[in-house]
Amino acid sequence: MLFESFELKNLKLKNRIVMPPMCMYSADTEGFANDFHISHYGSRAIGGVGLIIQEATAIDPDGRISINDLGIWRDDHIPGLKRIVDVIHQHGSVAGIQINHAGRKAKVEDPIGPSAITYGGEYITPREMTLDDIKKTVYDFKMAARRAQSAGYDLLELHAAHGYLLFQFLSPISNHRKDIYQDGKILLKEVVEAVRTEWPKEKALCIRISAYEYVKEGVTPEMMADAINSVKHLGVDIIDVSSGGNVLVKINAFPGYQLHLAKKIKDLTKLPVMGGGLITTLELAQYAVSSLQTDLVYLGRVLLREPYLVINQFKDFGVELEYPKPYIRGKK
Ligand SMILES: Cc1cc2nc3c(=O)[nH]c(=O)nc-3n(C[C@H](O)[C@H](O)[C@H](O)COP(=O)(O)O)c2cc1C
Repeated sequence: MLFESFELKNLKLKNRIVMPPMCMYSADTEGFANDFHISHYGSRAIGGVGLIIQEATAIDPDGRISINDLGIWRDDHIPGLKRIVDVIHQHGSVAGIQINHAGRKAKVEDPIGPSAITYGGEYITPREMTLDDIKKTVYDFKMAARRAQSAGYDLLELHAAHGYLLFQFLSPISNHRKDIYQDGKILLKEVVEAVRTEWPKEKALCIRISAYEYVKEGVTPEMMADAINSVKHLGVDIIDVSSGGNVLVKINAFPGYQLHLAKKIKDLTKLPVMGGGLITTLELAQYAVSSLQTDLVYLGRVLLREPYLVINQFKDFGVELEYPKPYIRGKK
């Protein structure tokens, strides 16, 4: 199952293994990609990962998580991003990109958010977004989608997880607005609509969500499924299920700790899902796909330390996989 292909619209994955978006904070301060990104994403593509989703890439310099985030807020970011897409394609993988605005979690002097409520810790209290700020953010998402299309990505992922801006609107913890945007689904809908005017309808659109906040005041899987169901008719194809990130709370993470959330979201939305969380072996990934009906499985941190995990272990699954030719003499 794990090594079965997966097709969805334009996506044709050779296996169900995904490298999820992981910020590398290695761009220059203007958000440009460099040789590190080529080596980093290129080696996971050589390593046999089916789908690589590029790290949270900022749609607005004031929406960055750090000053070294990759950027997609300017047209001249496109050539550097295209190099990343090309190296991923060259080595037989499929290229996704996560686009993001960090909202109240942006490391800037004047962060914005749905309400003037701080995330806590060292984070500054954000300024409550005006209607113009919201309009600009929707436009920035739209323009980022246009640039992602120009750079040649196969999948576009909207970051609505981990306490970043789109999620901040969806959570009752961070959104205390009194206008129509007190319903965070309205902003999500506007963003999906705007992005869909640029991102071709035959290409897959993904939303990453936090399905649970680990505190009773936060969102539930049912609330997040409801948000997805309110936009899915606009052309949302797959949901990337994660959790947490909007409240400073300790999460008891164990291997596969978020897989039940992926299953719940799939049941409630009837959309394909990506699931994961502390999956460090292909055996567990296989279990997620075959027994829990997770369509795709993401392996994050383990791929940081073991970029060649997939090509080193696929034989244990009795499958043949195209091995990178230059490395054949090193094959186990
Ligand atoms: C270094 C690092 C950076 C991350 N950056 C992002 C990010 O840019 N966007 C995102 O949605 N999640 C991000 N995450 C979360 C991962 O995508 C993944 O969901 C999480 O690490 C759980 O999977 P794992 O246990 O297999 O690592 C990051 C995680 C790590 C370790």
